Amino acid sequence: MKQRELYAKWRQDPERFWRDAAQAISWDQSPTIICDTDTSPAGHWFTDGQLNACYNAVDRHVEAGRGEQAALVHVSAMTGASESISFSQLQHEVARLAGALRAQGVQAGDRVIIYMPMVPQAVYAMLACARIGAIHSVVFGGFAARELAVRIDDAQPVLLLTASCGLEPGRVVDYMGLVRRALELAEHKPSKTVVWQRPQAPADLGADYMDWLDFIDGVEPAAPVSMAATAPLYILYTSGTTGKPKGVLRDTGGYLVALSWSMHHVYDTAAGECFWAASDIGWVVGHSYIVYGPLIAGCTTLMFEGKPVGTPDAGTFWRIIEQYQVKTLFTAPTALRAIKREDAAGRFIKESDTSSLSAVFLAGERADPDTVQWVGEQLSVPVIDHWWQTETGWPIVANCLGAGEPLPVKLGSASLPIPGFEVRVLNELGQTLGSNEQGDLVLGLPLPPGCLPTLWNDPTGFEAAYFTTHPGWYNSGDGGYIDEDDYVFIMGRVDDVINVAGHRLSTGELEQSLAGHSAVAECAVIGVADGLKGTVPLGLVVLKAGVTHDAQILIAELIAKVREDVGPVASFHRCHIVPRLPKTRSGKVLRATLRAMAAGREVPVPPTIEDASVLDELQGLLRSVS
Ligand code: COA
Ligand code: AMP
Repeated sequence: MKQRELYAKWRQDPERFWRDAAQAISWDQSPTIICDTDTSPAGHWFTDGQLNACYNAVDRHVEAGRGEQAALVHVSAMTGASESISFSQLQHEVARLAGALRAQGVQAGDRVIIYMPMVPQAVYAMLACARIGAIHSVVFGGFAARELAVRIDDAQPVLLLTASCGLEPGRVVDYMGLVRRALELAEHKPSKTVVWQRPQAPADLGADYMDWLDFIDGVEPAAPVSMAATAPLYILYTSGTTGKPKGVLRDTGGYLVALSWSMHHVYDTAAGECFWAASDIGWVVGHSYIVYGPLIAGCTTLMFEGKPVGTPDAGTFWRIIEQYQVKTLFTAPTALRAIKREDAAGRFIKESDTSSLSAVFLAGERADPDTVQWVGEQLSVPVIDHWWQTETGWPIVANCLGAGEPLPVKLGSASLPIPGFEVRVLNELGQTLGSNEQGDLVLGLPLPPGCLPTLWNDPTGFEAAYFTTHPGWYNSGDGGYIDEDDYVFIMGRVDDVINVAGHRLSTGELEQSLAGHSAVAECAVIGVADGLKGTVPLGLVVLKAGVTHDAQILIAELIAKVREDVGPVASFHRCHIVPRLPKTRSGKVLRATLRAMAAGREVPVPPTIEDASVLDELQGLLRSVS
């Protein structure tokens, strides 16, 4: 059935559509209630169903005779090592780790923080939590100790799982040092921290930390526990408009149904085929399409530690595709821009046989038409831009490759909404805009299965963040338009969130760090265009009266401070001292005006501005930065 027909089928009878989709999942108790909208505006799905996520991702494939098939292929461009783990081995590893968690007293509903690099043990850890109903919260390794501490205090984990080190080009990431610092900063203390020792940099564990191998030694393997479909599977913190990250909660039943549906209909990838999401388990793409999605579908999932370039060269992706017969590649446009920059002629692509590949999916930031065209020409496969967010857990708008005939591509558009998502464009008064008119992208309620039912520990924040600007709709935070053929064009965030190399960051978090410097009176951080990373942050800082620091030294201190507080992933390298910031008469910094100026757009002088001459002062600087 073609995508438009599928969409119409969903429209006609949403309950039936999702009841049918739910049959692809193994339930301990099949749901009779499909969607409950009384308890969350987003909806709770399959509320009386019972199931286990780990069973669906692992055990059922062993039972169905896929035990010997590779479930997880781990390739490290950093160590040169690779490892293939079959579904039977995965079951063994996960059951053992789940047994160890249980022996430690971890129970269903308890939180476990996973702060780990891209090693198979991180996947075992996620699945082991799911097996016993514990809620995992993975924290991306590129975040600094303070960010980890904030998440520890919010999630209140009973246990922390980590590794001795991560491996970045030219640098060993001292995970243990970061964990120690985070535990000093956090008020909440997990009862235990368990460490996977990597031979590249084993850590001195002392009495406070437990070696992973000792943790799992001699334990009784644990069987999957039957969980309510609405039981939280994980919390994934993401950047919002404030300095405090939002704990996106993911349920179990709806998520599994959505992922299973998407593997088939969006990604056109089936059991036995190899799916590679070149992302990190610390992001939503990693949760949905390195771990749960491909495994639920019985695919082989490829887990990659390394970079698209420099580890060792721009041919790494293509050699992996050839070696592991990857059918579907999912990455961020920035990764392909990096490859194109080093190998515009596609010399490395020609050296590898990429004929196993049937499509490349892009997300995380706007896919610029040049890159999309270049990749399509080089690989001769469809290049599919698709739009989604941590909150939705799976794509909102995509060209559904598995829905029969692919849609014609319109460069700059992620194509059509996926069944389950009603996408509208509203103006600031909440009025629906017509074709090609740009405004706020909102989603109809309830949201489909897989999307967040609420925020962890913060139902009020959930309402405030997503349902107040446009009551009755989910506000995505992205702006864009829909054309006369229903194609959706995403034009970027309209709030204070930025996407740096496909990594989502809050400018508020960066501002909080800058404002903590004793010389800073006030500051603003905005995203400015960057040829490689799409967007990078730019800091504008006003100093306190009487500060006489050397400007260059001060800027170096500020850059180091953001790296120390937020993490290297922020890519905060640009900072300027300015005499004043543009503000409203009530004292609010006019960030949208700064963003527009840096983007080179004509900016009408906001009527609420306190002193318009400040815009003239900043004009030259902002023009020169992007
Ligand atoms: N642990 C510790 N540090 C990390 C890290 C991790 N897991 N991931 C990134 N970092 C660090 C990097 O080492 C780098 O530090 P540096 O300032 O010392 O060099 C910094 O964070 C920025 O990293 P990154 O954004 O990866 O930039 P890069 O310059 O190293 O590489 C690209 C540029 C384009 C190759 C890279 O950003 C990339 O591959 N992006 C794809 C992103 C992606 O897959 N996003 C997921 C959405 S689908
Ligand atoms: P994250 O929650 O980290 O997945 O980031 C979500 C944000 O990334 C979205 O709100 C968008 O701003 C951006 N994004 C994701 N996919 C796309 C896309 N295909 N085109 C444009 N922006 C995208």
